[in-house]
Amino acid sequence: MKKQRHPAFDGKLALVTGAGSGIGRATALLFADLGARLVLCDRNPEGLQETARILREKGVDVLTESVDVSDWAAMQALAGRVHGKVGALDILVNNAGVATSGDFLSTPVEDWSWVFGINVMGVVHGCKVFGQRMVQNGGGHIVNIASAAGYYAAPEMSAYSASKHAVMGLSESLRLEMAEFGVGVSAICPGVINTNIVSAMRTNGAMVQSQGKVVDIYRKRNYGPEKVAEAIAEAVIHNRAVVPVSPEAWVLYAGKRLMPGVMDAVQRTRLFRRLKP
Ligand SMILES: NC(=O)c1ccc[n+]([C@@H]2O[C@H](COP(=O)([O-])OP(=O)(O)OC[C@H]3O[C@@H](n4cnc5c(N)ncnc54)[C@H](O)[C@@H]3O)[C@@H](O)[C@H]2O)c1
Repeated sequence: MKKQRHPAFDGKLALVTGAGSGIGRATALLFADLGARLVLCDRNPEGLQETARILREKGVDVLTESVDVSDWAAMQALAGRVHGKVGALDILVNNAGVATSGDFLSTPVEDWSWVFGINVMGVVHGCKVFGQRMVQNGGGHIVNIASAAGYYAAPEMSAYSASKHAVMGLSESLRLEMAEFGVGVSAICPGVINTNIVSAMRTNGAMVQSQGKVVDIYRKRNYGPEKVAEAIAEAVIHNRAVVPVSPEAWVLYAGKRLMPGVMDAVQRTRLFRRLKP
């Protein structure tokens, strides 16, 4: 995609959560090139300031807000400040997210609450606090970052997969409801993207030993977050519903629909080999 002003973004107000790293940062940088005015949020102030610094070096001024998307009161307060200062959003990207891995029996309930609080309720909070004003304003676009794990549930990822399946369900339902108000809703489903997510992941069971290997796989795969940012921008422009990003995300998307039994058999064999004493 050409990194130049585009009518779907030029002068439009966009808010990106989790903009202090990875996909969120890449999205903020691309949206700025496309001409958007930006509000950037993250719970990590250092990452957020680094994204803002890169943008200011490019001559783009942004509003930054340190906020935890899982905190309902903080998200309501954020919306109050944003609406008061700059008005209704045209584009909302609910991107902030975390990962968990490990077999179900080893994963504590606290980790389920943590990942659901951020990946599911964070998205719910974003849609709630900004959606109403979009409707009143006559339209807009909400982008929710789900995952290939949102339609294909691999083993040892039950909590993360369940959270991303929830984001898919929320997005698909909201898309149908919001259509009559001129608000588009897209669910983006990346595969293996080289960001900080796996080094920040909470692991349990056998996955505790494997985290370094997983970090290495993501690094060597080296599929950049910029490609996800482009898919996000295209989703806004064309009002796409569900967008797998990366070859593996497409393979899982097609495989799950066309040959679910084969996909499960492959996973079982892989797991059996790994867990065999
Ligand atoms: N990297 C991948 O392979 C991949 C694949 C599929 C989906 N995703 C999804 O993409 C999104 C972005 O992840 P990423 O890969 O860029 O990871 P990342 O770790 O590089 O970036 C995530 C950002 O979200 C922020 N964040 C985390 N919890 C937050 C909270 N409670 N409130 C506010 N900010 C918070 C972090 O501080 C960080 O800056 C996530 O929703 C993730 O689940 C990533």
